[in-house]
Amino acid sequence: MIELLLVRGDITTVEVDAIVNAANAELIPGGGVDGAIHRAGGTEIAAEAREIVAERGPLATGEAVATTAGRLPARWVIHTVGPVWDQHSPGEARELLAACYRSSLDLAAELGCRTVAFPNISTGVYGFPKRPAAEIAIGEVKSWVGEHPVALQSITFVCFDAENHEIYRELLG
Ligand code: APR
Repeated sequence: MIELLLVRGDITTVEVDAIVNAANAELIPGGGVDGAIHRAGGTEIAAEAREIVAERGPLATGEAVATTAGRLPARWVIHTVGPVWDQHSPGEARELLAACYRSSLDLAAELGCRTVAFPNISTGVYGFPKRPAAEIAIGEVKSWVGEHPVALQSITFVCFDAENHEIYRELLG
């Protein structure tokens, strides 16, 4: 069975095969976890991201693509674009956030990853309320694991801020 893990800290230091980035549609380095990943991983990540967008256009919300992880301990960065909370109806925002987790896990499995780590997508700049976001993240990951019981070895939720960490601790029990 795939292990679900919870850590408090900086995702750029987590030693897994793929870390997921909360990116924007154009994959232009931003702030938050996106900025941290590009700063720590180096310019290779943005260079590959630029090529991807030049070739296939900006990502739709909920989609995921992979680049090198540059200098990071991880092998891949999986960039996904979360919903901006106030740009969708609550129902649509929930579905789009769930799609980020599903697409990222599908891609990680396709790449042959064994271990994957997620930040708390959309809960920063994009304004998604933290508790509903955590419920969606955990619910979607659990349902994906139910459909792909041996596709990965572990999925780690990385909480940078105390509020998210408290919520995840409570929900994961
Ligand atoms: N490691 C793990 N999580 C982090 C880190 C880090 N180093 N830095 C920030 N976070 C957490 C925040 O605490 C928040 O809970 O990532 C979560 C997501 O917040 P944002 O990074 O703001 O991402 P998001 O809300 O999805 O907004 C994405 O912000 O940085 C831009 O280019 C990005 O336009 C995109 C938008």
